[in-house]
Parts: sequence; structure tokens; C-alpha cells
Amino acid sequence: MRVLVACEYSGRVRDAFCAHGHDAWSCDLLPTEVPGPHWMAHVEHILDLGWDLMVAHPPCTHLAVSGSRHFHRKQREQAEALAFVRLLMAAPIQRWCIENPVSVISSAIRPPDQIIQPWQYGHGEVKATCLWLKNLPKLTPTHCVQGREQRVHRMPPGPDRWKERSRTYQGVAAAMAQQWGARPLPAPMQQLDLLQIAC
Ligand SMILES: C[S@@+](CC[C@H](N)C(=O)[O-])C[C@H]1O[C@@H](n2cnc3c(N)ncnc32)[C@H](O)[C@@H]1O
Repeated sequence: MRVLVACEYSGRVRDAFCAHGHDAWSCDLLPTEVPGPHWMAHVEHILDLGWDLMVAHPPCTHLAVSGSRHFHRKQREQAEALAFVRLLMAAPIQRWCIENPVSVISSAIRPPDQIIQPWQYGHGEVKATCLWLKNLPKLTPTHCVQGREQRVHRMPPGPDRWKERSRTYQGVAAAMAQQWGARPLPAPMQQLDLLQIAC
């Protein structure tokens, strides 16, 4: 499959899909942290390049309810952030997952299809993460662990704090590739159709 991982600099979801043999690309305004197939670009310019699946991590700075005390003075930024999410949702891609923390996407667009936690995927941490899904099954927990700490509270302040906080958890990336990368192609391009064309 051709997989687009939108708004990803860490390469984690990209590399998880690559490990399953997919043609996966990350795209971000930033360079990739780990060498691999990466578009350093505005993702809105490459949404129509024939992707089979997209996993997108749009910025949550103006959307996350954890910052709601600032909402009253950043209405324009929030409207722009929501417009970006709507644009991703309207992408001409058969299947997608859009990931964000608990955010105003739920009230402004629609509630998420699923809320997952890192501790369900091998990381002893709490961080409610919402998934909006199109033509994808809910993610099944792979390894529930006992630990329940909030890592973010231990992180020192600094310019890279947001980056440390926003990298996708490896266990979640692996589950996405394992569970969504193994599904058959959408009906219109299945082998049977190709065989019929050949005959
Ligand atoms: C919350 S971070 C997601 C990080 C991701 N979970 C990872 O592991 O790399 C959001 C990212 O969106 C990127 N971004 C913002 N606007 C973008 C755009 N128009 N096109 C591509 N990337 C964009 C930012 O540079 C930022 O790295």
C-alpha cells in the first residue's frame, strides 16, 4: 500500500508501515528525525498523489482542551486549525486515521471513533488520544501494562518540550501498521477485478 503519514517528523508510524513492506512516506514542515522516505512540505499539496491510507497527526496547539483557558484569545488560530483538520478529512484517500488529544474537534466536527491510551500498547503512561477513523477498524490494544504515570508532568520546560510530548508512541505506531497494514486493498482494485480486466 501507499501510505501517507501526515504531520510526522519522528518517522515512527512511517517506519512501522515500512517494516510491513508498505511504501510509506511521512510529511512534515520539519525534516524527518530518522532517515527515511519523507516529504518536507505542506501536506495539503500532496494529498492527491494516490495514497491508499493516511495516518495524520495535525497540530493540537489551538485545539486541545488542556489549553481551553486560552481559547477566548485565539479564535482565529483555532478556526484555522479546524479548517486544516477538515481539509485532511476531505482528502481523496479511501482510508484514514486522524489522531489528536481530547480536543474541540469533537464538538466542532464530530466525536472521535475511539480513545486510546499508551498503557494499552506497552507504555506505562496515561495520555488520552482520540482517533477519527474512515474505513478502518478500531485499534485493538496489543499489550496492557500496569504503569499509569503522566510523563508530561516530568518533562522539563524548554523549546523542544512540545516535540518530546508529541512523538507517537512506538507501541501505537506498531499496532497501526500491524492491524491496518494487513487489511486487503479496497474492493475496486482487488485481484479479482484485475484478473477480469486481463481476461
Ligand atoms: C503534534 S505534531 C505531530 C508529531 C507526530 N506525532 C510525530 O511523531 O512526529 C504536529 C506536526 O504537524 C506539522 N505540520 C503543521 N502544519 C503542517 C502542514 N501544513 N503540513 C505538514 N505538516 C504540518 C508540524 O510541523 C508538527 O511537526
